Amino acid sequence: TEKAILQYGGKDYELPVVCGTEGERAIDISHLRDETGLITYDTGYANTSSCKSKITYIDGEKGILRYRGIPIEELAEKSTFVEVSYLLIYGKLPTTPELYEFRKKIGRYALIHEDMKNFFNQFHGDAHPMAILSSMVCSLSAYHPELLKPNLTDQDKDETITHLLSKVRVLSAFAYKRSIGQTFIYPQMKYDYIENFLYMMFATPIEEYEINPVVKRALELLFILHADHEQNCSTSTVRMVGSARTNLFASISAGICALWGTLHGGANQSVIEMLEAMIKSGNDYKKFIDRAKDKNDPFRLMGFGHRVYKCYDPRAKILKKAVDDIFAHLNIHDPVLDLTKELENVALHDDYFIERNLYPNVDFYSGIIYRAIGIPTNDFTVMFALGRLPGWIAQWKEMVESDDNKLCRPRQVYIGDVEQHYTPIESRT
Ligand code: SDX
Repeated sequence: TEKAILQYGGKDYELPVVCGTEGERAIDISHLRDETGLITYDTGYANTSSCKSKITYIDGEKGILRYRGIPIEELAEKSTFVEVSYLLIYGKLPTTPELYEFRKKIGRYALIHEDMKNFFNQFHGDAHPMAILSSMVCSLSAYHPELLKPNLTDQDKDETITHLLSKVRVLSAFAYKRSIGQTFIYPQMKYDYIENFLYMMFATPIEEYEINPVVKRALELLFILHADHEQNCSTSTVRMVGSARTNLFASISAGICALWGTLHGGANQSVIEMLEAMIKSGNDYKKFIDRAKDKNDPFRLMGFGHRVYKCYDPRAKILKKAVDDIFAHLNIHDPVLDLTKELENVALHDDYFIERNLYPNVDFYSGIIYRAIGIPTNDFTVMFALGRLPGWIAQWKEMVESDDNKLCRPRQVYIGDVEQHYTPIESRT
């Protein structure tokens, strides 16, 4: 019942204010243009909410992140990735039978159509795995025509969801095996979600592969922390594409492409590449910090800053705590980790970063852990996509099931030429 008053052209316009569960307020401008002839302008949508959602809550000032109301710290410590996926997608923690059924279905849907194996060989040997993953996920739609109907039943949605959750691991692992010229390793029913992915990535036909519990738990933690993050760039892309009643396979493929960008999910690969460049320069990280502060230099300190968090990203906090433990258990010493901590310490005491509330984000520490467990650098963003998949799915499902699910079609402020007319080529200068 709260209202905002807009004064324009000598008139007062009352606009309804929507209030969220945590007290957030939004001016509802759904009828602004009809009533005032005005539209709004908000480049990057930094001040615009695109939807109402019950899935994830973030408080960027307090560093709060909750999935369906449960703090990320509790889920990171106590849950599993499959359980968190169920929570995000179906809105509650599963009972034992529900989790058993969900796991069993994911296990059963792990095989891809044998024809799809040929696709991998058509990519150039050093094709980026995000290009392969987005193409292969979209190609899944060719093998499940029964799931392309615009109005899916609940059962159809569940089928599509479990096919996707299960098969993305296979597609990612097969792309990695292709890139190193090794034969594809098929999933095994005896392994759980994370174990099967590690097995398909690192097993070979000539030696037994033993699942290292520390590696498994590290990957499980990373996937849980990446599982959803409200209306970020890639999730908004999935919603935008899905709003046209595009099937889930194609909508997720679009989200994978958006995530690839270095300002978004691609940052985890850029962080490690930046740190390696610092090491090559003799650990002269101050030169990189000065470049990041230089307005005329497009270089940014990768892994720092966030559109929403104006404090330490709670996910980065959890990873910073976990990294020492993982390295100790794996008996690894990586000079990049020492540099990471030094760089963070210097930046956090530098006025430029302090004044702009620039802190480490989830990508700052994730790459160093992927590297420690044997994931190749250009596969880091694929790991982000595997982790984010349940979040994309949950947001798509919430959108298609909501009663105010409209085709996304923003307006613009036109600043081009006023009307002019066609001129013959002879008279053009
Ligand atoms: C992810 O949205 C999500 O939830 C995303 C994500 C998720 O889980 O889905 O959390 C995952 O994408 C994390 C972000 C990963 N990206 C990076 O680490 C790339 C480096 N960071 C930046 O490019 C930047 O911080 C963004 C893109 C993340 C956010 O930028 P904004 O919100 O558009 O802020 P901005 O560009 O307006 O910057 C404000 C000021 C500017 O300086 P001034 O013009 O005020 O002088 O801060 C500066 C920027 O130049 N700035 C940086 C910086 N980030 C912002 N300066 C140097 N290094 C940086 N990293």
